[in-house]
Amino acid sequence: METTELRKLFYSRLSELYRLNCISALLGWDQQVYMPPKAAQGRAEQLESISIITHQKIVDPDFAKVVDELYEKRDSLSIEDQVNARETKRVLDKQRKLPDDFVSEMAQACALGYSEWVKARPANDFAAIKPSLERIVALVKRKADLLGYDENPYDALIDDFEPGAKASTVKPLLMNLAEKLAEIIPPITKRFKDLPRLQGHYDQKSQYELARRVVKDLGFDFETGRIDTTAHPFMTTLGRADIRITTRYDESDFLMSLYSTIHETGHALYEMGLDREWAGTPMGEPVSLGIHESQSRMWENLVGRSREYAKYLSGIIKEYIPQDSNLHDPDKLWQYVNRVEPSLVRTEADEVTYSQHIVIRMLLELAVVNNELSVTDLPDAWNELYEKYLGIKPTDYKNGVMQDVHWYSGSIGYFPTYALGNLYNAMMMEVAKRDIPDLSQQIERGEFSKLLAWLRENVHKHGMRYHGPELIRNITGKDLSAEPFVNYLKNKFLD
Ligand code: CO
Repeated sequence: METTELRKLFYSRLSELYRLNCISALLGWDQQVYMPPKAAQGRAEQLESISIITHQKIVDPDFAKVVDELYEKRDSLSIEDQVNARETKRVLDKQRKLPDDFVSEMAQACALGYSEWVKARPANDFAAIKPSLERIVALVKRKADLLGYDENPYDALIDDFEPGAKASTVKPLLMNLAEKLAEIIPPITKRFKDLPRLQGHYDQKSQYELARRVVKDLGFDFETGRIDTTAHPFMTTLGRADIRITTRYDESDFLMSLYSTIHETGHALYEMGLDREWAGTPMGEPVSLGIHESQSRMWENLVGRSREYAKYLSGIIKEYIPQDSNLHDPDKLWQYVNRVEPSLVRTEADEVTYSQHIVIRMLLELAVVNNELSVTDLPDAWNELYEKYLGIKPTDYKNGVMQDVHWYSGSIGYFPTYALGNLYNAMMMEVAKRDIPDLSQQIERGEFSKLLAWLRENVHKHGMRYHGPELIRNITGKDLSAEPFVNYLKNKFLD
């Protein structure tokens, strides 16, 4: 077939798939934000129909032929077309290795696992969920075998979340991080564990107005985005100019809500910065979860928990929460958002201890996937690693091995991306600070547009053109390492 004809067929199918994905995302967004409870069954059926249509359009042999042929001709294509053909083929090759009955068995196991976890976690009942987790682990191992791998079955799994990542690169990287963190956590904890906790009452309306102002200043565009309320905050893209974030409110601690909103805003700014012309193609898509997380943590931690940002934010808080004069003092505000202390729950962890939670999960995933650890022994192994890396031990399952939904809903190999995000963003920030010499002063004044433009130029606009490690090498001239992140923590907390 002529290249022109191939391109036409290729892009028209990608665009169809994109529309279907957006429809599915809209149904999912509404499910979490507005849908009345009794609509759940009907909504699940609607989502299933869309996913069946989508799957058929992806595995359609005619489309596969188009993708393969276009990929064969890649040397004669533009860079953008090359990237789109390469990445589409990468995903398609994986899909082709998974038989239909396996895909549907996996989907059912994940859906069931999730709904059982929702019930079993509050009841602290690991026994109840064990069979379902065993089923998921068995399926995930089978998936790795079906997909194939060179060295470690884990490679086949992590690749879904961080393209190109392998156990042989990620494990040494994160173990090195863990070792360095183990040295600095005790002295930092000693100095920062007794910082004050927020106490007061903050009505939801002022919190909402404050959050809107803060994210608008960061660069969130309300012409192409919205903020709504859910139990678990998230970000989702519903179309080429439709990015949604959600938040939750705690009337006794508005900083918790505010910082989770800043985190989701970081995700949204990435999606808003993707090349809209290429929306729905790999050139207009985020490259990986690790890079995505680097963007959210960049704004939440590297910017949001800095001394400079506290100067800006304390002034804004004064306007929206005039009664709490403690929070109008930048030094006190900084203290409220920078307490450091090992804790049991990952999502409540500070930026210093957070990555240890991830290392623990990665080690357990590796052990389980490589048949070195059974699901039965998982809770004890979990507790031992918490003792080893954080010096504390869970006394129940719900704040231990059952705290995260990931494994129970089938996501094994996902966790490392959170820690990779920390490593990526510290490396990016070193270069951004060199390129924008007065960045600190800009942040103090509440000016974030130069940093955002820098991220757009160096990260966002490339879509999936470069995978994470290559992207970071292009930006920094160096390979991904733990050093810059650890140096950042040392400078911030031990200087
Ligand atoms: Co995130």
